[in-house]
Amino acid sequence: MNYENIVVETREKVGIIQLNRPKALNALNDKLMDELGTALTDFDADEDIGCIILTGSEKAFAAGADIGAMANYTFMDVYKGEYITRNWEQIRRIRKPVIAAVAGYALGGGCELAMMCDFIIAAETAKFGQPEIKLGTIPGAGGTQRLPRAVSKAKAMDMCLTGRMMDAAEAERAGLVSRIVPADKLMEETLVAATTIASMSLPVVMMVKESINRAYEMTLNDGVQFERRLFHSTFATEDQKEGMKAFMEKRPPAFRNL
Ligand code: CAA
Repeated sequence: MNYENIVVETREKVGIIQLNRPKALNALNDKLMDELGTALTDFDADEDIGCIILTGSEKAFAAGADIGAMANYTFMDVYKGEYITRNWEQIRRIRKPVIAAVAGYALGGGCELAMMCDFIIAAETAKFGQPEIKLGTIPGAGGTQRLPRAVSKAKAMDMCLTGRMMDAAEAERAGLVSRIVPADKLMEETLVAATTIASMSLPVVMMVKESINRAYEMTLNDGVQFERRLFHSTFATEDQKEGMKAFMEKRPPAFRNL
């Protein structure tokens, strides 16, 4: 598949998607998001892929939705045509883990896109922000919803109301990113994490993702019940038998995704 706005490659069982509009700091337009959706869906369907990495450039993961493309839209354009963010939630339908590897700016839609991933590994150069207020608008792809869940109401209000950026250290303290790595080690470290995940039993990996995501949609009681049923169902897999047998035999497990 030939893409114009992204670069796609695989490293063993890891699928890598790099946003690639360097002149516009990877500003996100409909075409890019369509291509991203296609690439993600293809990796999700590929039995040889166990984890996906989404990354940008050294300077920017993505500097937001494409301001030039949306500057002259009317309410009717965006409401009736559902322009700008119509195809953004596609990433939430991906069942395999998606890691965001973020260096440089992750602003507006770029920050929202990173938050749609399952976790964020940040280079020490990463900067996160929801600056839409400075453009006379508000976050439109989950910024006011996912940011408070990730970093608390106080910090989300601060970020969305002042439009200020958060550096990598503050983002890690606040819980937005899982870890910070040196900028020149971002892909190497993210690949180690992705390869580790891809070496596990894929159906069980998918259950972990599904169960953690339910934590944001359910009461604690319902979520614990949901988790328990998934836990029980792992006992119907060959991989659970193999994982526990390998532990007892003091050898590494050989999962077969069965
Ligand atoms: N859309 C379109 N083009 C963008 C862009 C964006 N979001 N962000 C940067 N660019 C373009 C610039 O226009 C510039 O293009 P030209 O060279 O053709 O002039 C190029 O990328 C480089 O940008 P700068 O010269 O501004 O680079 P800088 O290093 O001086 O500043 C920056 C970097 C602080 C990220 C600055 O570019 C910036 O503030 N960008 C806009 C960030 C923003 O407001 N994002 C939110 C967008 S709205 C949104 O995302 C809505 C939503 O929730 C879905």
